[in-house]
Amino acid sequence: MSSSPKRIRTAVFPVAGRGTRFLPATKASPKEMLPIVDRPLIQYAVDEALAAGAERLIFITGSSKRAIEDHFDTDTELERLLQAQGKPELAQQVNSVLPSYATCIYIRQPSPLGLGHAVLCARPAIDDEPFFVHLADDLIDAEVPCLKQMADTYQQKGGCVLAVEEVPRSETDKYGIVEVDAPQGKPSKVSRILGIVEKPKPEEARSTLAVVGRYVLTPEIFVELERVGQGAGGEIQLTDAIARLVQRQPVYAHRFSGRRFDCGNKLGYLQATVELSLAHPVLGKDFRAYLKRVAARLD
Ligand code: G1P
Repeated sequence: MSSSPKRIRTAVFPVAGRGTRFLPATKASPKEMLPIVDRPLIQYAVDEALAAGAERLIFITGSSKRAIEDHFDTDTELERLLQAQGKPELAQQVNSVLPSYATCIYIRQPSPLGLGHAVLCARPAIDDEPFFVHLADDLIDAEVPCLKQMADTYQQKGGCVLAVEEVPRSETDKYGIVEVDAPQGKPSKVSRILGIVEKPKPEEARSTLAVVGRYVLTPEIFVELERVGQGAGGEIQLTDAIARLVQRQPVYAHRFSGRRFDCGNKLGYLQATVELSLAHPVLGKDFRAYLKRVAARLD
């Protein structure tokens, strides 16, 4: 394993998935461009990575994902138009989609072979260094951005760091499930992972501690991803490569502080919209009043 922890400057965003759960909304436009209030999901993802210190942003894309590239491009024509229309604050918002120090790299995932394969596609753009993986479907609202919390843990401990949270046993088959060395009933914020299994059936899961869409990975993961064969669903699973890495170097589970919304399904997406609208500095007050009227009607 690499000696002292390095600064994490690269974030990988696997965005090749077609988002079938949101069809027809996602027929021609990426699910990552679905907005929560006034920002697309991928913007929340990028903002979180930037806040954690990333400056190289690697998007693993597929077909129908052009809008993501357009979103992060500079649009001087639009900015000039908004200025000319006397809307400097809107021009500023368009301009601040990405800070000037950040670089975007787009790599095509040639076929949908799974999350592990998507991460492997990033290899040519990553030196011998740790990196973040961020799944934009999992929106985490937190005082300290989740990736920042994890980067701090990485700086203290080294190794890989996976964000985890408890889920109902009936839902273990939707997640990578970890077994940690913390004594039962005594959960600690960071614990060492002893084993990890992709989407075990509720009756077979060794715990109910689930991996959510945030990872700090060391470059050794690429060696395991190269070796690991097809796993659950015939895909190359990141979880299976991590399971192998656990045998070679420390991998930590980090119970993050914050609230996660699974925006990969409609209910989670609506919940995120409601909660972030309530917290919105401009909209919040009016939206709260509106929700109260709705609640009264439902009583
Ligand atoms: C992926 C991972 C899984 C993880 C989940 C978090 O699954 O394979 O281990 O728990 O993301 O959202 P997916 O949701 O892509 O099926």
